[in-house]
Amino acid sequence: MTDSATVPGSPFRKAILMAGGSGSRLHPMTRVINKQLLPVYDKPLVYYPLSVIMLAGIRQVLVISSNRDVPAFRELLGDGSQWGMRFEYAVQQEPRGIAEAFLVGEEFIAGEPVVLVLGDNIFYGQGLREKLLVALGRDIGATVFAYPVRDPQRYGVVEFDEQGRAIAVWEKPRHSRSRYAITGLYFYDAQVTALARQLKPSLRGELEITDINRWYLEQGRLHVERFGRGFAWLDCGTEHSLLQAANFVEMVQERQGFKIACPEEVAYRMGFIDAAQLRQLAGQFRNPYGEYLTEIAESG
Ligand code: DAU
Repeated sequence: MTDSATVPGSPFRKAILMAGGSGSRLHPMTRVINKQLLPVYDKPLVYYPLSVIMLAGIRQVLVISSNRDVPAFRELLGDGSQWGMRFEYAVQQEPRGIAEAFLVGEEFIAGEPVVLVLGDNIFYGQGLREKLLVALGRDIGATVFAYPVRDPQRYGVVEFDEQGRAIAVWEKPRHSRSRYAITGLYFYDAQVTALARQLKPSLRGELEITDINRWYLEQGRLHVERFGRGFAWLDCGTEHSLLQAANFVEMVQERQGFKIACPEEVAYRMGFIDAAQLRQLAGQFRNPYGEYLTEIAESG
């Protein structure tokens, strides 16, 4: 495996997958199991954001979760070599906020630009790879992705002026002036760790990713890419959205015959593994998932 990103010229080689949190909104479902390990139709939730990282051509991933849950992630994902990836693991002692990723992951980041993805976000739709390529090509500043939603007060939000320039960001504003949520996929330049070190906890006691984004905005270095209405961004923060996500995945897969966020398939299509390796992975399953992988390997 090479260390470099597969996207030529991109400064991004590393990603952090944030998969901790207390999961209290989904209790009792998440009393003994991490939210990101819950099934979304036919795969664990974590496979969906992980596939986005892989589609971005990034092969070094730090998975951050709680002390209790890191062993389960390690058991599920291993060292990544089966998919041509390299996974490392780190513990976040308490869910002190998403931006703590850069402190827990400081050694892993080692002063490089880094992608952050939240373990409960699902991205699906045409044009995703093109948007990723735009972000991957920037070595200065930050790139975030905005998506119109009906309930912006549940999210980080970005407001645009009449020219479509981002002018403000808020975390869960009670009355939002914008319909645009900021999704859980972020690209940051090498400054982000130093910035995270200066953050103070918010009123709710968390190191807020929105404060990082606000700093970039104030420096004129926040790039906001918009996903259009033909795109699906789903979060799985509530029992309702978790069920919606499962229904969505089932419906699209059933109709098309292609799986959404199948890491084995993505690894193969990205050239991280070859057909023989994919066939070997397929052999570990005695079920339709394995049959699907075999079909992909056979069809080239
Ligand atoms: O989903 C996108 C939204 O995610 C953004 O629009 C918001 O700006 C951002 O704050 C975040 O909002 P949530 O309220 O959805 O964050 P939540 O606490 O649910 O955490 C999101 C993921 O990050 C979840 O998979 C658990 C993980 N997490 C969260 C915290 C606070 C951690 O691993 N550690 C943490 O300390």
